[in-house]
Amino acid sequence: MGSVVAVLNMKGGTGKSTLATNLARGLQKAKAGEGSACIVDADPQGTALRWGNAQPEDADMPAVISVSLPLNERIPGVADGWDFTVVDGAAKAKDRTRQCVQVADAVLIPIRPSGADIWASEWLVSVVKGRRRQTGKPAAAFVVSQAIVGTNLAGEIEEVLERFELPVFDGRTSQRVAYAEALSLGKTVLDTDPSGKAAAEVERITEETLQLLTDTGT
Ligand SMILES: Nc1ncnc2c1ncn2[C@@H]1O[C@H](COP(=O)(O)OP(=O)(O)O)[C@@H](O)[C@H]1O
Ligand SMILES: [Mg+2]
Repeated sequence: MGSVVAVLNMKGGTGKSTLATNLARGLQKAKAGEGSACIVDADPQGTALRWGNAQPEDADMPAVISVSLPLNERIPGVADGWDFTVVDGAAKAKDRTRQCVQVADAVLIPIRPSGADIWASEWLVSVVKGRRRQTGKPAAAFVVSQAIVGTNLAGEIEEVLERFELPVFDGRTSQRVAYAEALSLGKTVLDTDPSGKAAAEVERITEETLQLLTDTGT
């Protein structure tokens, strides 16, 4: 079985689908070849599936797979066939989120740099830590999403994040039209502007994700 990376947050609009699609493409490029990366759409809203349907024909892009419930029973079967399986999580869905945590090697938690997004991740962090106490897995990290270009993370936000005792990736996505455009085209920023700033952000996040997986031995 390959590695399962779940992109989760109970709040909508924090950038799960944007991160999941771009990261899956980044992982696919990092380990080129058939079966390198797929996305499991675990959200009934189906953003990733629609993104998959919008992919240009014959494009070498991550396949998007939809699975039935319970996710913890279905995802491992999918992950058998891929080096990396990126799960695009659902907002406001405790059962689905728990099921994803149960089978994830790594959980990435995208949060916009605001208190509201951080507080909303409290429950998820407790679920992650609960499984970790029993099994040592999953690894987890926050990924700042939609940061305003040219600003640093505010001190108060860093302080709150530290209290969760999970790492925060150095790599983050900034607020850039390129992300929204790529998503609606069925592409990623690695395809629309491979040498652009957004692509560099995704590459950094991809590297840190690979490192996180290496640290957990998966
Ligand atoms: N870094 C970013 N820059 C600009 N727009 C973004 C960025 N990340 C997400 N968005 C936009 O914000 C909205 C919500 O993002 P999405 O990834 O769908 O969040 P979620 O899956 O958590 O609900 C979408 O319209 C998306 O295009
Ligand atoms: Mg989504």
